[in-house]
Amino acid sequence: PASRPLAGRRVVVSAGGTREPIDPVRFLGNRSSGKQGAAIARAAIAAGADVTFVAAHIDVAPPDGADVVRVDSALELRDAMLAHVPAADVVVMAAAVADFRPSELQPSKIKKRDDMADPVITLVRNPDILVELVQRRNAGTDGTPSDQLIVGFAAETGDGGGTALEYGLAKLARKGCELLVLNEVGADESGAERVFGQDHNSALILARDGSEPERAAGSKDEVAGAVVRRIARALGTDHR
Ligand code: C5P
Repeated sequence: PASRPLAGRRVVVSAGGTREPIDPVRFLGNRSSGKQGAAIARAAIAAGADVTFVAAHIDVAPPDGADVVRVDSALELRDAMLAHVPAADVVVMAAAVADFRPSELQPSKIKKRDDMADPVITLVRNPDILVELVQRRNAGTDGTPSDQLIVGFAAETGDGGGTALEYGLAKLARKGCELLVLNEVGADESGAERVFGQDHNSALILARDGSEPERAAGSKDEVAGAVVRRIARALGTDHR
C-alpha cells in the first residue's frame, strides 16, 4: 500500500538524553526531551515499520506499538544499540548522548562536611555511538547488513569559522552516516531553548550521496514525516 513505505522494515530509534552517574543519587544530564525521536518512531510505525525505541530520559510517552528499551547512561545506550542494531534495516540516532561522563562512579553518596575542600569531578570522553555503529555496519560486525541505513542528528550554530550548514556537512562526512538531520540553532538569543523541549522544529536533511539538502519545518510530527519520507526515498521504497 502506498502509505506504508516502511512495511516489513526494522527500524531502531534512540531518543532522549543520557544521564551520567556521579554517585548513587546524582548525575550529569541534558535538556533533551525525546520529542523529536518519539515523533520519528511514531512516523516510522505509521509507515509500517517494526520499531525498537531505545529511550534514555524522555519527557514524553514512548510511542504506542514500539518495542521500548529503557536506558540511563551513554554506556547503557551503547550496549542497547549494539544488541538491537545488527538486526535493523534503519537506525536513527536521535538521542542526546553525553559527550563526557564522570571518570569514576562514587559507590556511595558524596557527603558534605564543614572542613572539606571543594569536590572536583573529572570527566572522560564517552564513545561516539553513531560512529561506532557506522564502523560496525561497514565491517559486517555481528552480521549487520551492509545496506543498513544510518541517520544521525546534529545541532549546529554558525560562527566566524563557517555556517551551520558547513558544520553540518563536515559532521556528516566525519560520522559516515547516510543522512544527517541538521538543526540550525540561532547563535543569538537562547538558542538551546529553540531546540530542546519545543514542539516545533526546522531542520535540514543532509545526505551523504550529495543530493540537495531538504528543508523540513513545522511541528516535530511534520519534521518526523519528512525524515521518514527521506528514509523511504533512500531505501527506494517511497513509491510503495
Ligand atoms: O557530535 P555530535 O554530538 O554533534 O553528534 C550528534 C550525533 O551523534 C547524534 O546523532 C547523536 O545521537 C550521536 N552521538 C553519539 N554518541 C556520542 C555523541 C553523539 O552517537 N557520544
